[in-house]
Amino acid sequence: MNVLDVQDLRVRFDTDEGPVLAVNGLSLSIAESEVLAVVGESGCGKTVTALAVMGLAPAHAHIDGSIRLAGTELTTLPDPELRRIRGRDLAMIFQEPMTSLNPAFTIGRQIGEVLVRHEGLSKRAARIRTVELLDLVRIPSAARRLDEYPHQLSGGMRQRVMIAIAVACNPKLIIADEPTTALDVTIQAQVLDILRQLRRDLGTAVLLITHDLGVVADIADRVVVMYAGHAVERGEAEALFTGPQHPYTIGLLGAVPRPGGARLTEIPGLVPVLREDPRACVFAPRCARAADDCRLEMPPVRETSAGQFAACLHPGPKEAVLS
Ligand SMILES: Nc1ncnc2c1ncn2[C@@H]1O[C@H](COP(=O)(O)OP(=O)(O)OP(=O)(O)O)[C@@H](O)[C@H]1O
Ligand SMILES: [Mg+2]
Repeated sequence: MNVLDVQDLRVRFDTDEGPVLAVNGLSLSIAESEVLAVVGESGCGKTVTALAVMGLAPAHAHIDGSIRLAGTELTTLPDPELRRIRGRDLAMIFQEPMTSLNPAFTIGRQIGEVLVRHEGLSKRAARIRTVELLDLVRIPSAARRLDEYPHQLSGGMRQRVMIAIAVACNPKLIIADEPTTALDVTIQAQVLDILRQLRRDLGTAVLLITHDLGVVADIADRVVVMYAGHAVERGEAEALFTGPQHPYTIGLLGAVPRPGGARLTEIPGLVPVLREDPRACVFAPRCARAADDCRLEMPPVRETSAGQFAACLHPGPKEAVLS
């Protein structure tokens, strides 16, 4: 059984300017010990997807579709049960750890509280377990760090504390939304290393949201490429990197900043805000390969090679874009 199964997820916001279809028919799944990366430009619906899975979407969001965690349907679960699952089976790591840590409490207390509340540990047992968790996320001199406050820690250390809180109850799934974006490169590598270790040692599944394709190449098993609320391409990370078929994926890969240099290419244009169900390919207005048929129908998702799928009427390797 998959740890996470998302089927035809739709998230709509009704705003003063009209409806916004932030996620529009997204399906994805993650198996135990698997790292699935969700990539795409700003505004394509990554965070909204994560919040919907966590049951933390804003109150004015309309959610349709199915989200199952280890078989349990979350979209219809009453709030108290969802709260119990969150923090225990399902945990999230955000980009900026300072906003999610309480500046008024020591880190020992913040981690301990999770263990007391969700695992029913005594305060004493929670303190012992907290030291183990800080060791697990490789915080040096863990026993001493317990009594420090968030502002006494560096950004990288705070992110480790967040990871310690996230894994405190041995969750089935960790959702990490840009977990390394605010960190410098060395610390980024260490945080990724910790996620890798959790997956290996505890079998934790990870849904990793990022627009850093270097991070994806480093750690992801599979990738879903999102565009305007849709999954436009998905497949094994390595195959997708070496043989992207969707012109959007090809464009994204071309836009990876290289060390020592600026972005090589950019995809001209912006991610559109969808107000109604599209009747044509959402990427067509920015696509070098777009033909008349792309403007007449939504491209169905098709297998382009073993295990790789693209929603494109004219999929193909990079050269096809240039010719
Ligand atoms: N609370 C909200 N109310 C209305 N629209 C929203 C709300 N939250 C997000 N949106 C819209 O939903 C779309 C998807 O936003 P989302 O935050 O998921 O993007 P993202 O892929 O996470 O981008 P980034 O890479 O910048 O984090 C955007 O068009 C955004 O403006
Ligand atoms: Mg986001």
